[in-house]
Amino acid sequence: MAQTENKLRIPETLRKVKNIVGIFSAKGGVGKSAISLQIALALKDKGFKVGLVDADIYGPSQSVMLNSSPGELQLTQDQIIEPLAKEGIKFISMGLISNEKMPVIWRGPMVSGAVMQLLSQTNWGELDYLIVDTPPGTGDVQLTLLQRIPLTSSIVVTTPQKVAISDCKKGIEMINKLNIPISGLIENMSWFQPDQSEKKYYLFGKDGGKNLSVEYSLDLLAQLPLVELSEEDNIQNNPILKKEFVNISDKLAVSINNLKEKKSTGIPQINITQ
Ligand SMILES: Nc1ncnc2c1ncn2[C@@H]1O[C@H](COP(=O)(O)OP(=O)(O)OP(=O)(O)O)[C@@H](O)[C@H]1O
Ligand SMILES: [Mg+2]
Repeated sequence: MAQTENKLRIPETLRKVKNIVGIFSAKGGVGKSAISLQIALALKDKGFKVGLVDADIYGPSQSVMLNSSPGELQLTQDQIIEPLAKEGIKFISMGLISNEKMPVIWRGPMVSGAVMQLLSQTNWGELDYLIVDTPPGTGDVQLTLLQRIPLTSSIVVTTPQKVAISDCKKGIEMINKLNIPISGLIENMSWFQPDQSEKKYYLFGKDGGKNLSVEYSLDLLAQLPLVELSEEDNIQNNPILKKEFVNISDKLAVSINNLKEKKSTGIPQINITQ
């Protein structure tokens, strides 16, 4: 399973999860949640079994995007949560947990403890990929996820402007320090291109994320345009973004395979001869 397996006591509920991928950015509002969901859906479309966890206790957004409510949650007798099944993926969110409804689940006062509980008290079953949508910042929750969840890999999301890049560097350094592989960087909201126009408008500056990927020797998984969204036109059915997420999920799968190959060839082999 995941990279740091031998150093961690893997929660029972995560034992049949082949790969756990954290979507990080120290900066808020750059599109982590939208991107987490689209990667999860693109992997599902390829035939993988996929789960998505929204680990943002302060601003959970997946439950809104996936149109789900706390009333849908069910607990088993031994206090394990059944994840919801939404759009073909298993899903759980901090936004679905409310103290009145599920007092038993929440014991620790710490948010990071709550995130760990959410991950480890959910009945994930067999999954090829579990995508973890993280809150912004480089605080307790991110540290806990990086240190205590056996992440196979991570993806870093940024927007091109300087303030986002400088925050994002802190995020990359934190992930590097904890020796979690980064499968690549996604630059989001890179430009806006009106319909029937050749011109791209670089509203937040040009290539900030691309340059960051060069600086940290990370693969640039995509530069995604800012698109106009409405009730009917959401990120999910935007044709340009949809194609991009197919590519991103392909690259993620390849990166994870490479990581696993590297890991297995890194183990010394002994030849026993008689
Ligand atoms: N490429 C895009 N084009 C248009 N809108 C986008 C794009 N990417 C994200 N958005 C929108 O931007 C808003 C912020 O995105 P999102 O909530 O995914 O960011 P986030 O990084 O998860 O934020 P937070 O740090 O608060 O968790 C959302 O309304 C989302 O739909
Ligand atoms: Mg978010």
